[in-house]
Amino acid sequence: MIDLIEKTRDGVALTSDEVRRLVQGFTDGSIPDYQLAAWLMAAYLKGLSDDEVYLLTDVVATSGGPTTSSLGVVDKHSTGGVGDKTTLILAPLVSCLGVPVAKMSGRGLGHTGGTLDKLESIPGYRIYLTKEEIAAQVAHLGIAVVTQTDELAPADKRMYALRDVTATVDSIPLIAISVMSKKLAAGSPNIVLDVKVGNGAFMSSLPRAKELARMMVRIGKHHGRNVRALLTRMDQPLGFAIGNAIEVNEARQCLQGGGPVDLREEVIELASHMVSMGRGITVDVARREVIDALDQGRAWRQFEQWIAGQGGDVSAVVEDLPLAPYRLNLVAERTSVVQSINTYAIGNVALHLGAGRHQLEDTIDPGVGLLCYAKVGQVYERGDVIATAFARSEEMARQAVERLKAAITLVDVRGVRDEREMVVGDRMGQAMGSLRSSESPVLDTIFSADQ
Ligand code: URA
Repeated sequence: MIDLIEKTRDGVALTSDEVRRLVQGFTDGSIPDYQLAAWLMAAYLKGLSDDEVYLLTDVVATSGGPTTSSLGVVDKHSTGGVGDKTTLILAPLVSCLGVPVAKMSGRGLGHTGGTLDKLESIPGYRIYLTKEEIAAQVAHLGIAVVTQTDELAPADKRMYALRDVTATVDSIPLIAISVMSKKLAAGSPNIVLDVKVGNGAFMSSLPRAKELARMMVRIGKHHGRNVRALLTRMDQPLGFAIGNAIEVNEARQCLQGGGPVDLREEVIELASHMVSMGRGITVDVARREVIDALDQGRAWRQFEQWIAGQGGDVSAVVEDLPLAPYRLNLVAERTSVVQSINTYAIGNVALHLGAGRHQLEDTIDPGVGLLCYAKVGQVYERGDVIATAFARSEEMARQAVERLKAAITLVDVRGVRDEREMVVGDRMGQAMGSLRSSESPVLDTIFSADQ
């Protein structure tokens, strides 16, 4: 192992035997944490060659056994963000348009939420299904969303846990290996990646996010998978809701043709690519079908069938799931514009309320959370509600609102009511920095063909 650490430290590529030995060490515990941690830091600082990345991804993907093909035709993965409830909407939306989805999802950790936690806020929903149950449900309804099994790329589990405590998470090759090993292991021939960009994501700048997206698309292509990556904004939470039950409630609005505009736009784009890949049709044709399925109730009906199929109480989601009783608003004190939002801090406000976990063993409270209405460039008048906290005590609600206030930077636009458009435009330009100011949260798309 010392030789391997030395080679990576000095920028010398590992041989395929060495890569296998390393991954074996992550999987079976035969190499101690301190040496694996040293290797991770060497890889973080020196980077890895494309060949090493392809091989590592493959060996990590098969660390739990040979990959089998998925029952689903298309898979989707987000690199993680705040308020990202898109899987809850995409899975029924895409599957009701004839593209089967058999998705394995994970739990939230730190400031980001996880799809499984959100689904578990629906009473009765079963995240564990046997292989036979998954097959039966996909054959019957075209959809199943379940927990990742222990056999799914187990080497990534230990690698990720070590990265989390050694400041080596935000490395482009290490993220690419982690994400793509799980996607290869899950077995879908078509993969849509949602690469988040901004201060609530691992990649805060657009150029680095593009580099990550290109690397993941290359890995997929190398392994015979069809991959598209969409780069999407995470310099503000997606939609308004952040938490668990509260995000299910917002997902329902979107599935019924409503919901926040940015969430709907992002869902439409991701779904259009998933349907386009799954059915071999153009994105434009797919987009028309996606919009109809949202607006005419097909996606919502599919959601109801899916939830019932996995044991969930549909009557509980037809209306809002219950939320924590102590509710407090953050209110604008004067006419002002949102200059920037510390999205990472907003995710942490929800975490402190109990919506997330500091460690994987922590339990979460499904009913707490936030509605953060603020979007960069938005103007508020005195007394307007900027955000609402849902907490288990008055004190928790008060603390959450204080933290929200610190996370949302407002600047005065006193006396400029008539020139509001100009001022807001200016402020947005400054606040957005390298991110493009646009209605759509989708910043760019990277296809295999671009490589
Ligand atoms: N998501 C993953 O699955 N792995 C990473 O390393 C980062 C985001």
